[in-house]
Amino acid sequence: MAYRVAVLAGDGIGPEVMEEALKVLDRISSKFGVDFEYREALVGGAAIDAVGDAFPEETKQVCDWADAILFGAVGGPKWESLPPEKQPERAALLPIRKRYELFANLRPALVFPALIESSPLKREILGDGGFDVLVVRELTGGIYFGQPKGIFEENGVKKGIDTLVYYDWEIERIAKVAFDAAMKREKRVASVDKANVLTSMVLWRQVVEEVAKSYPEVELRHLYVDNAAMQLIRDPHQFDVILAGNMFGDILSDEAAMLTGSIGMLPSASLGESKGLYEPVHGSAPDIAGQGIANPCAMILSAAMMLRYSFDLPEAADAVERSVEQALDEGFRTADLYRGKPGEVKVSTKQMGDVIAERI
Ligand code: IPM
Ligand code: MN
Repeated sequence: MAYRVAVLAGDGIGPEVMEEALKVLDRISSKFGVDFEYREALVGGAAIDAVGDAFPEETKQVCDWADAILFGAVGGPKWESLPPEKQPERAALLPIRKRYELFANLRPALVFPALIESSPLKREILGDGGFDVLVVRELTGGIYFGQPKGIFEENGVKKGIDTLVYYDWEIERIAKVAFDAAMKREKRVASVDKANVLTSMVLWRQVVEEVAKSYPEVELRHLYVDNAAMQLIRDPHQFDVILAGNMFGDILSDEAAMLTGSIGMLPSASLGESKGLYEPVHGSAPDIAGQGIANPCAMILSAAMMLRYSFDLPEAADAVERSVEQALDEGFRTADLYRGKPGEVKVSTKQMGDVIAERI
C-alpha cells in the first residue's frame, strides 16, 4: 500500500523547496521499502491565477484523498492588493486548517549545533548547546475563527469585531497534545494565557490544570503572554513545551523561530484526527524565488515530520533529520546560512537537496 500525499507547492520558493523534499522522500522510499503516491494540486496565488480561487475544489478533492498534505508556501506581492479575505495566506491556509480540523500545530524551534552562531542571542544566554523548544499552538479556534467577525456599520459608525472564544473541549484536546509531547521530551509544559485580563483565558487555565492531573510527571507552569515573550528572550532554556492558543502561539512561534537564527531550517506539523499538513515555517520569500538559492531544509524536515506523525515511520524520520544535521556538520550551507567561515561550502537549493538525499 502506498502512503497518499497531496503535494501543494504553492507560490514563491514553495515549488523549489518542494522538489528537494520529494527528492529526499524518493530516497526514503528506496532505502526503507515504502511507497508514496503523490498528487499535485494548485494552492494560493498560483491557484488564484489559474482558476480564481486560492483553495479550489479540485485541490480540496486531492486533499480529501490524501493521508497527508505537504505544503510549500503561499502568497506574494502579486496578490497583496486583493481584499484581505481573498489573499492567498488567509484564503488558502485557514480554510484548509478548518476543513480537516487541524487543531494541533507543532512548531519545533531548535538551534542546530552547527548554526549556533546564527542565533541573534548572545552566547552567554544561549550557552554551548543552544536550545530546543516545541511550540504547541491551537490552530482552529480562538480569535481566528470566533463569531461574530467582521466590519459592521451602525448609525454611520463602523466597528471591526473579532471574537476570542474557546470551548473547554478545544482547550482540553490541545493541552493533551502538549502534555503527550512533553512526556517524550523534558516533561515541562509552559501554558501561555492572558488570564489576568481575558475571561476565555481563565477557562484556558482551568482546563489546562485539569488535564495536567492526568500527567503527574509533567511539570506545569502558567505564564501571561507578555511575560512569556520576554522570558523567551531572557532565557529560552527555561522552556521545553510551550502551549498556547491560536494568536499567542502564532506570535510566540515566530519569536522562537527568530531566536534560532535560521528560520530556513524550521518545519511544522498541523495535525487533526485523521490528517496532517506539513509546511516550512518560512513563507514564500518572493524576493529570492526562482534563483535556486532558497534553503530546502525546512521543507525537508517538514517531510520528516510527515513520516513521523502521519505515517508512523520514526526510523525514516530520524534518517532524514540525521542527514540534514550531517550536511550542516560537513559545512554545506545555502545562502541564508552561509557566513564565509572556513569549512563552509556554499550550495544551491538543488545541491543541498542532493547532499541530504545522498546521506540517507
Ligand atoms: C502562520 C501564518 C498564518 C497564521 C497566516 C498567514 C494566516 O502567520 O501560519 O503562522 O497567522 O496562522
Ligand atoms: Mn505566523
